[in-house]
Amino acid sequence: MASTNVVWQNATITREQREQRNGHRAVTLWFTGLSGSGKSTLSNAVEARLFELGCNTFVFDGDNIRHGLCKDLGFSDTDRTENIRRIGEVAKLANQSGVIALTAFISPFRADRDLVRNTMPEGDFIEVYVKCALEKCEERDVKGLYKKARAGLIPAFTGISSPYEEPTHAELTVDTGETDIHTCVEQIVNYLLAKQVIS
Ligand code: PPS
Repeated sequence: MASTNVVWQNATITREQREQRNGHRAVTLWFTGLSGSGKSTLSNAVEARLFELGCNTFVFDGDNIRHGLCKDLGFSDTDRTENIRRIGEVAKLANQSGVIALTAFISPFRADRDLVRNTMPEGDFIEVYVKCALEKCEERDVKGLYKKARAGLIPAFTGISSPYEEPTHAELTVDTGETDIHTCVEQIVNYLLAKQVIS
């Protein structure tokens, strides 16, 4: 049942005060892509770079979040939608606390990603499409999940038996199949500099 009789409470310390003290804006870098496309590797590499620069950051990773906050969710379309909705809310809280959130979720549905985008203030949601051909992800098969999915052991596996809707208006596209990780990180950091998220 939905909550009723709840009234929003304003915080004494504002997001702007936190951002000013931190010396950077708080945004959400939303990494989306197939399993094995490199979302976790890339988001962690970008975080390491931002951390070095003195930024306040945190990576929210699909596999990890599904051990706790979203452990009640599976991989049906409706569960994935709820997964992404929750992460969107958590990322928003992180931003309000002055933190740059880096989220690494397949987030296969455009409508779910757009819903998160539209609940955030303009400019906060930076969609990063971690592009990589399915064949390459399958070839990498770091966790052996594609093999299991092809054998019919994992139902609704993204790219095999469940859809992945490519972004149509991502702020950034990085092709991990064609580009080395260092170049991908630079591309993202340069974007943040150009948008004056960091300086
Ligand atoms: S989603 O679609 O955004 O809700 O998925 P996410 O929370 O990112 O979780 C993806 C990780 O879960 C593992 N896994 C699966 N992925 C896709 N489809 C199915 N059916 C599935 N079952 C388990 C897998 O390790 C994913 O991690 P990544 O890092 O993407 O490989």
